[in-house]
Amino acid sequence: MSTVNTMRAISQDTLGGPEVLKEIEVERLAPRPNQVLVRVRAAGLNPTDWKHRANGGFLGEPPFVLGWDVSGVVEAVGIGVATFKPGDEVFGMLPYPFGHGSHAEYVLAPVRGLTHKPASIDHVQAAALPLVSLTAWQALVENAELRPGQRVLIHAAAGGVGHVAVQIAKARGAYVIGTASAGKHAFLRELGADEVIDYRETDFTEAVKDVDVVLDTLGGDTSVDSLRVLRPGGIVVSILPVGSDEFGTAAERLGVRALRMLVDADRAGMNAIADLVEKGELRPTIAGTFPLADAAEAHRLGDTGRTAGKLVLVVD
Ligand SMILES: NC(=O)c1ccc[n+]([C@@H]2O[C@H](COP(=O)([O-])OP(=O)(O)OC[C@H]3O[C@@H](n4cnc5c(N)ncnc54)[C@H](OP(=O)(O)O)[C@@H]3O)[C@@H](O)[C@H]2O)c1
Repeated sequence: MSTVNTMRAISQDTLGGPEVLKEIEVERLAPRPNQVLVRVRAAGLNPTDWKHRANGGFLGEPPFVLGWDVSGVVEAVGIGVATFKPGDEVFGMLPYPFGHGSHAEYVLAPVRGLTHKPASIDHVQAAALPLVSLTAWQALVENAELRPGQRVLIHAAAGGVGHVAVQIAKARGAYVIGTASAGKHAFLRELGADEVIDYRETDFTEAVKDVDVVLDTLGGDTSVDSLRVLRPGGIVVSILPVGSDEFGTAAERLGVRALRMLVDADRAGMNAIADLVEKGELRPTIAGTFPLADAAEAHRLGDTGRTAGKLVLVVD
Protein backbone atom coordinates (compact mmCIF):
# COMPACT_ATOMS: atom_id res chain seq x y z
CA MET A 1 0.00 0.00 0.00
CA SER A 2 1.38 3.41 -0.93
CA THR A 3 1.70 6.31 1.49
CA VAL A 4 0.16 9.77 0.99
CA ASN A 5 2.95 11.12 -1.21
CA THR A 6 3.85 7.98 -3.11
CA MET A 7 2.12 5.70 -5.58
CA ARG A 8 2.50 2.26 -7.08
CA ALA A 9 3.61 2.08 -10.71
CA ILE A 10 4.67 -0.61 -13.17
CA SER A 11 8.21 0.13 -14.24
CA GLN A 12 11.16 -1.58 -15.87
CA ASP A 13 14.92 -1.13 -15.64
CA THR A 14 15.81 -3.08 -18.77
CA LEU A 15 14.25 -3.83 -22.13
CA GLY A 16 12.95 -7.36 -22.55
CA GLY A 17 10.05 -9.76 -22.11
CA PRO A 18 7.09 -9.25 -19.77
CA GLU A 19 9.27 -10.44 -16.85
CA VAL A 20 11.16 -7.12 -16.83
CA LEU A 21 8.02 -5.37 -15.55
CA LYS A 22 7.91 -4.81 -11.81
CA GLU A 23 5.81 -2.87 -9.35
CA ILE A 24 7.65 0.02 -7.70
CA GLU A 25 6.81 2.82 -5.31
CA VAL A 26 7.46 6.33 -6.68
CA GLU A 27 6.76 9.91 -5.71
CA ARG A 28 3.30 11.23 -6.54
CA LEU A 29 3.80 14.60 -8.24
CA ALA A 30 1.53 17.64 -8.05
CA PRO A 31 -0.13 18.84 -11.26
CA ARG A 32 1.56 21.71 -13.11
CA PRO A 33 -0.36 24.44 -14.99
CA ASN A 34 -2.91 22.98 -17.40
CA GLN A 35 -2.43 19.49 -15.92
CA VAL A 36 -4.60 17.35 -13.72
CA LEU A 37 -3.57 14.54 -11.41
CA VAL A 38 -5.81 11.56 -12.17
CA ARG A 39 -6.42 8.77 -9.69
CA VAL A 40 -6.27 5.90 -12.19
CA ARG A 41 -9.18 3.45 -11.93
CA ALA A 42 -8.35 1.57 -15.12
CA ALA A 43 -5.66 1.83 -17.80
CA GLY A 44 -5.82 0.30 -21.26
CA LEU A 45 -2.97 -1.61 -22.85
CA ASN A 46 -1.91 -1.39 -26.48
CA PRO A 47 0.66 -3.06 -28.74
CA THR A 48 2.79 0.08 -28.35
CA ASP A 49 3.17 -0.91 -24.67
CA TRP A 50 4.68 -4.30 -25.51
CA LYS A 51 6.76 -2.83 -28.33
CA HIS A 52 8.24 -0.15 -26.04
CA ARG A 53 8.75 -2.66 -23.23
CA ALA A 54 10.77 -4.88 -25.57
CA ASN A 55 12.50 -2.38 -27.87
CA GLY A 56 12.47 1.03 -26.20
CA GLY A 57 10.99 2.55 -29.36
CA PHE A 58 10.49 6.30 -29.12
CA LEU A 59 11.33 6.24 -25.41
CA GLY A 60 14.82 4.78 -25.65
CA GLU A 61 16.37 3.24 -22.57
CA PRO A 62 14.33 2.58 -19.39
CA PRO A 63 13.50 3.13 -16.60
CA PHE A 64 10.00 4.21 -17.63
CA VAL A 65 6.36 3.64 -16.74
CA LEU A 66 4.30 2.71 -19.79
CA GLY A 67 0.62 3.35 -20.54
CA TRP A 68 -1.16 6.00 -22.62
CA ASP A 69 -4.82 5.16 -21.91
CA VAL A 70 -6.50 6.26 -18.71
CA SER A 71 -9.87 6.38 -17.01
CA GLY A 72 -10.18 7.66 -13.47
CA VAL A 73 -11.07 10.44 -11.11
CA VAL A 74 -9.50 13.90 -10.97
CA GLU A 75 -7.57 14.12 -7.71
CA ALA A 76 -6.09 17.61 -8.09
CA VAL A 77 -5.93 20.32 -10.75
CA GLY A 78 -3.05 22.59 -11.74
CA ILE A 79 -3.18 26.37 -12.18
CA GLY A 80 -5.52 27.44 -14.97
CA VAL A 81 -7.53 24.26 -15.29
CA ALA A 82 -11.12 25.33 -15.90
CA THR A 83 -12.51 22.19 -17.53
CA PHE A 84 -12.24 19.77 -14.63
CA LYS A 85 -12.42 19.79 -10.85
CA PRO A 86 -11.44 17.24 -8.21
CA GLY A 87 -13.91 14.37 -8.16
CA ASP A 88 -14.72 14.51 -11.91
CA GLU A 89 -14.68 11.18 -13.73
CA VAL A 90 -12.52 11.54 -16.83
CA PHE A 91 -11.05 9.39 -19.57
CA GLY A 92 -8.55 10.09 -22.29
CA MET A 93 -5.13 9.67 -23.75
CA LEU A 94 -1.75 10.92 -22.63
CA PRO A 95 0.37 12.69 -25.28
CA TYR A 96 1.87 10.16 -27.67
CA PRO A 97 4.61 9.15 -27.43
CA PHE A 98 6.22 11.19 -24.63
CA GLY A 99 3.36 11.58 -22.13
CA HIS A 100 3.24 7.88 -21.05
CA GLY A 101 2.75 6.68 -17.47
CA SER A 102 -0.85 5.56 -16.88
CA HIS A 103 0.14 2.08 -15.64
CA ALA A 104 0.22 3.45 -12.11
CA GLU A 105 -2.08 4.49 -9.28
CA TYR A 106 -1.94 8.14 -10.37
CA VAL A 107 -0.90 9.95 -13.51
CA LEU A 108 -0.34 13.57 -14.51
CA ALA A 109 -2.28 14.39 -17.66
CA PRO A 110 -2.51 17.53 -19.79
CA VAL A 111 -6.18 18.56 -19.81
CA ARG A 112 -6.29 18.66 -23.64
CA GLY A 113 -6.28 14.88 -23.92
CA LEU A 114 -9.13 14.23 -21.49
CA THR A 115 -12.89 14.51 -21.44
CA HIS A 116 -15.70 13.60 -19.07
CA LYS A 117 -16.41 9.87 -18.86
CA PRO A 118 -19.91 9.02 -20.13
CA ALA A 119 -22.00 7.57 -17.30
CA SER A 120 -23.11 4.70 -19.55
CA ILE A 121 -19.68 3.03 -19.47
CA ASP A 122 -17.56 1.98 -16.51
CA HIS A 123 -13.89 2.80 -15.99
CA VAL A 124 -12.70 -0.45 -17.58
CA GLN A 125 -14.66 0.23 -20.77
CA ALA A 126 -13.59 3.89 -20.76
CA ALA A 127 -9.93 2.97 -20.33
CA ALA A 128 -10.16 0.59 -23.29
CA LEU A 129 -11.26 3.27 -25.72
CA PRO A 130 -8.99 6.33 -26.02
CA LEU A 131 -5.88 5.32 -27.99
CA VAL A 132 -7.61 2.90 -30.35
CA SER A 133 -10.67 5.10 -30.89
CA LEU A 134 -8.62 8.24 -31.50
CA THR A 135 -6.51 6.26 -33.96
CA ALA A 136 -9.57 5.01 -35.84
CA TRP A 137 -11.27 8.42 -35.69
CA GLN A 138 -8.20 10.29 -36.95
CA ALA A 139 -7.58 7.70 -39.68
CA LEU A 140 -11.14 7.32 -40.96
CA VAL A 141 -12.78 10.65 -40.23
CA GLU A 142 -10.04 13.28 -40.08
CA ASN A 143 -7.61 11.90 -42.66
CA ALA A 144 -9.77 9.82 -45.01
CA GLU A 145 -12.92 11.97 -44.57
CA LEU A 146 -15.06 8.83 -44.73
CA ARG A 147 -18.57 9.59 -46.01
CA PRO A 148 -21.90 7.72 -45.89
CA GLY A 149 -22.14 4.97 -48.48
CA GLN A 150 -18.40 4.67 -49.01
CA ARG A 151 -16.71 1.28 -48.91
CA VAL A 152 -14.06 0.79 -46.25
CA LEU A 153 -11.71 -2.15 -45.72
CA ILE A 154 -10.43 -2.64 -42.18
CA HIS A 155 -7.49 -4.99 -41.69
CA ALA A 156 -7.34 -6.91 -38.38
CA ALA A 157 -10.90 -5.81 -37.73
CA ALA A 158 -11.15 -7.86 -34.52
CA GLY A 159 -8.16 -6.17 -32.91
CA GLY A 160 -8.11 -3.20 -30.58
CA VAL A 161 -8.08 -0.60 -33.34
CA GLY A 162 -10.09 -2.68 -35.80
CA HIS A 163 -13.07 -3.44 -33.58
CA VAL A 164 -13.66 0.25 -32.79
CA ALA A 165 -12.91 1.25 -36.40
CA VAL A 166 -15.72 -1.04 -37.59
CA GLN A 167 -18.15 0.69 -35.24
CA ILE A 168 -16.98 4.21 -36.13
CA ALA A 169 -17.21 3.44 -39.85
CA LYS A 170 -20.74 2.02 -39.42
CA ALA A 171 -21.73 5.11 -37.41
CA ARG A 172 -20.55 7.21 -40.41
CA GLY A 173 -22.85 5.17 -42.68
CA ALA A 174 -20.08 3.31 -44.51
CA TYR A 175 -20.14 -0.19 -46.00
CA VAL A 176 -17.61 -2.11 -43.90
CA ILE A 177 -15.41 -5.03 -44.96
CA GLY A 178 -13.21 -6.55 -42.26
CA THR A 179 -10.43 -9.14 -42.22
CA ALA A 180 -9.97 -11.67 -39.41
CA SER A 181 -9.44 -15.39 -38.96
CA ALA A 182 -12.65 -17.41 -39.30
CA GLY A 183 -13.20 -17.86 -35.55
CA LYS A 184 -13.68 -14.08 -35.21
CA HIS A 185 -16.18 -13.59 -38.05
CA ALA A 186 -19.25 -13.81 -35.80
CA PHE A 187 -17.67 -11.12 -33.61
CA LEU A 188 -17.15 -8.86 -36.63
CA ARG A 189 -20.77 -9.37 -37.74
CA GLU A 190 -21.98 -8.43 -34.25
CA LEU A 191 -19.94 -5.24 -34.49
CA GLY A 192 -21.76 -4.42 -37.72
CA ALA A 193 -19.34 -5.53 -40.45
CA ASP A 194 -21.14 -6.03 -43.77
CA GLU A 195 -18.55 -8.41 -45.23
CA VAL A 196 -15.84 -10.50 -43.60
CA ILE A 197 -12.72 -12.02 -45.13
CA ASP A 198 -10.72 -14.88 -43.68
CA TYR A 199 -7.23 -13.56 -44.46
CA ARG A 200 -5.76 -17.02 -43.84
CA GLU A 201 -7.79 -18.58 -46.67
CA THR A 202 -8.41 -15.68 -49.03
CA ASP A 203 -6.17 -13.11 -50.69
CA PHE A 204 -7.98 -9.86 -49.96
CA THR A 205 -6.68 -8.27 -53.17
CA GLU A 206 -8.72 -10.84 -55.11
CA ALA A 207 -11.82 -10.69 -52.88
CA VAL A 208 -12.27 -6.91 -52.62
CA LYS A 209 -12.37 -4.04 -55.09
CA ASP A 210 -13.68 -0.47 -55.52
CA VAL A 211 -12.80 0.47 -51.96
CA ASP A 212 -12.76 4.14 -50.96
CA VAL A 213 -10.78 3.82 -47.73
CA VAL A 214 -8.47 1.14 -46.32
CA LEU A 215 -7.41 1.20 -42.68
CA ASP A 216 -4.08 -0.62 -42.65
CA THR A 217 -3.26 -1.95 -39.19
CA LEU A 218 -0.65 -4.44 -40.40
CA GLY A 219 1.96 -2.60 -42.49
CA GLY A 220 4.61 -4.30 -44.62
CA ASP A 221 3.26 -5.86 -47.82
CA THR A 222 -0.31 -5.19 -46.69
CA SER A 223 0.18 -1.42 -47.04
CA VAL A 224 1.27 -1.63 -50.67
CA ASP A 225 -1.11 -4.49 -51.61
CA SER A 226 -4.04 -2.50 -50.19
CA LEU A 227 -3.48 0.25 -52.77
CA ARG A 228 -4.65 -2.19 -55.46
CA VAL A 229 -8.17 -2.59 -54.03
CA LEU A 230 -8.89 1.15 -54.11
CA ARG A 231 -11.02 2.94 -56.64
CA PRO A 232 -9.34 5.97 -58.29
CA GLY A 233 -8.77 8.69 -55.70
CA GLY A 234 -9.21 6.25 -52.80
CA ILE A 235 -6.89 6.26 -49.80
CA VAL A 236 -4.96 3.78 -47.65
CA VAL A 237 -4.30 5.15 -44.18
CA SER A 238 -1.60 3.08 -42.55
CA ILE A 239 -1.09 3.24 -38.79
CA LEU A 240 2.27 1.52 -39.08
CA PRO A 241 4.12 4.81 -39.32
CA VAL A 242 7.37 3.54 -40.82
CA GLY A 243 7.82 1.44 -43.93
CA SER A 244 9.11 1.26 -47.49
CA ASP A 245 9.01 4.18 -49.93
CA GLU A 246 7.14 1.91 -52.32
CA PHE A 247 3.92 2.74 -50.45
CA GLY A 248 4.08 6.32 -51.72
CA THR A 249 5.52 5.66 -55.17
CA ALA A 250 3.04 2.86 -55.95
CA ALA A 251 0.15 5.07 -54.85
CA GLU A 252 1.25 7.81 -57.24
CA ARG A 253 1.53 5.33 -60.08
CA LEU A 254 -1.97 3.96 -59.38
CA GLY A 255 -3.66 7.36 -58.94
CA VAL A 256 -4.59 6.72 -55.32
CA ARG A 257 -3.46 8.15 -51.99
CA ALA A 258 -1.18 6.66 -49.33
CA LEU A 259 -0.86 8.11 -45.86
CA ARG A 260 0.95 7.04 -42.70
CA MET A 261 -0.05 8.41 -39.32
CA LEU A 262 0.58 8.33 -35.59
CA VAL A 263 -2.29 8.89 -33.17
CA ASP A 264 -2.36 12.30 -31.50
CA ALA A 265 -4.12 12.84 -28.17
CA ASP A 266 -6.72 15.62 -28.33
CA ARG A 267 -10.00 16.58 -26.70
CA ALA A 268 -11.96 17.22 -29.91
CA GLY A 269 -11.44 13.57 -30.80
CA MET A 270 -12.19 12.43 -27.25
CA ASN A 271 -15.45 14.41 -27.31
CA ALA A 272 -16.41 12.79 -30.62
CA ILE A 273 -15.72 9.39 -29.06
CA ALA A 274 -17.71 10.19 -25.91
CA ASP A 275 -20.56 11.33 -28.17
CA LEU A 276 -20.57 8.01 -30.04
CA VAL A 277 -20.60 6.18 -26.70
CA GLU A 278 -23.53 8.27 -25.47
CA LYS A 279 -25.46 7.55 -28.67
CA GLY A 280 -24.87 3.82 -28.15
CA GLU A 281 -22.82 3.58 -31.36
CA LEU A 282 -19.47 2.64 -29.80
CA ARG A 283 -18.62 0.07 -27.13
CA PRO A 284 -15.27 -1.60 -26.52
CA THR A 285 -15.00 -5.36 -26.21
CA ILE A 286 -12.88 -6.32 -23.23
CA ALA A 287 -10.61 -9.29 -23.95
CA GLY A 288 -9.35 -9.38 -20.36
CA THR A 289 -8.75 -7.36 -17.22
CA PHE A 290 -5.76 -7.65 -14.88
CA PRO A 291 -4.89 -6.04 -11.55
CA LEU A 292 -2.10 -3.45 -11.88
CA ALA A 293 0.33 -5.81 -10.15
CA ASP A 294 -0.28 -8.43 -12.89
CA ALA A 295 0.68 -6.13 -15.78
CA ALA A 296 3.24 -8.71 -16.96
CA GLU A 297 0.42 -11.25 -17.46
CA ALA A 298 -1.48 -8.73 -19.57
CA HIS A 299 1.65 -8.11 -21.65
CA ARG A 300 2.09 -11.88 -22.15
CA LEU A 301 -1.42 -12.13 -23.57
CA GLY A 302 -1.05 -8.98 -25.65
CA ASP A 303 2.26 -10.17 -27.05
CA THR A 304 0.42 -13.02 -28.80
CA GLY A 305 -1.24 -10.53 -31.17
CA ARG A 306 -4.37 -12.69 -31.20
CA THR A 307 -6.70 -10.91 -28.76
CA ALA A 308 -10.15 -9.72 -29.86
CA GLY A 309 -10.84 -6.28 -28.40
CA LYS A 310 -8.87 -4.79 -25.54
CA LEU A 311 -6.80 -5.67 -22.47
CA VAL A 312 -7.18 -3.38 -19.46
CA LEU A 313 -5.39 -2.96 -16.11
CA VAL A 314 -7.63 -2.35 -13.12
CA VAL A 315 -6.26 -0.19 -10.31
CA ASP A 316 -7.84 -0.62 -6.86
N1 LIG B 1 0.04 4.72 -35.70
C1 LIG B 1 -0.62 4.69 -34.56
O1 LIG B 1 -0.82 5.73 -33.96
C2 LIG B 1 -1.14 3.39 -34.02
C3 LIG B 1 -2.20 3.42 -33.10
C4 LIG B 1 -2.72 2.22 -32.63
C5 LIG B 1 -2.15 1.01 -33.05
N2 LIG B 1 -1.10 1.02 -33.90
C6 LIG B 1 -0.51 -0.26 -34.36
O2 LIG B 1 -1.52 -0.94 -35.10
C7 LIG B 1 -1.39 -2.34 -34.93
C8 LIG B 1 -2.72 -2.93 -34.49
O3 LIG B 1 -3.04 -2.48 -33.19
P1 LIG B 1 -4.21 -3.17 -32.38
O4 LIG B 1 -4.33 -2.49 -31.08
O5 LIG B 1 -5.42 -3.29 -33.23
O6 LIG B 1 -3.56 -4.63 -32.19
P2 LIG B 1 -4.16 -5.97 -31.54
O7 LIG B 1 -5.40 -5.64 -30.77
O8 LIG B 1 -3.07 -6.67 -30.86
O9 LIG B 1 -4.56 -6.82 -32.83
C9 LIG B 1 -4.89 -8.15 -32.60
C10 LIG B 1 -5.72 -8.67 -33.77
O10 LIG B 1 -4.95 -8.67 -34.96
C11 LIG B 1 -5.49 -9.70 -35.78
N3 LIG B 1 -4.52 -10.06 -36.81
C12 LIG B 1 -3.22 -10.40 -36.62
N4 LIG B 1 -2.65 -10.62 -37.83
C13 LIG B 1 -3.61 -10.41 -38.78
C14 LIG B 1 -3.64 -10.45 -40.21
N5 LIG B 1 -2.54 -10.78 -40.92
N6 LIG B 1 -4.78 -10.12 -40.84
C15 LIG B 1 -5.89 -9.76 -40.14
N7 LIG B 1 -5.93 -9.73 -38.79
C16 LIG B 1 -4.80 -10.05 -38.12
C17 LIG B 1 -5.80 -10.80 -34.80
O11 LIG B 1 -6.88 -11.54 -35.31
P3 LIG B 1 -6.65 -13.09 -35.72
O12 LIG B 1 -6.36 -13.82 -34.43
O13 LIG B 1 -7.93 -13.42 -36.39
O14 LIG B 1 -5.45 -13.12 -36.62
C18 LIG B 1 -6.22 -10.06 -33.53
O15 LIG B 1 -7.63 -9.99 -33.36
C19 LIG B 1 -0.24 -2.54 -33.94
O16 LIG B 1 0.95 -2.79 -34.65
C20 LIG B 1 -0.15 -1.20 -33.24
O17 LIG B 1 1.12 -0.93 -32.69
C21 LIG B 1 -0.58 2.18 -34.40
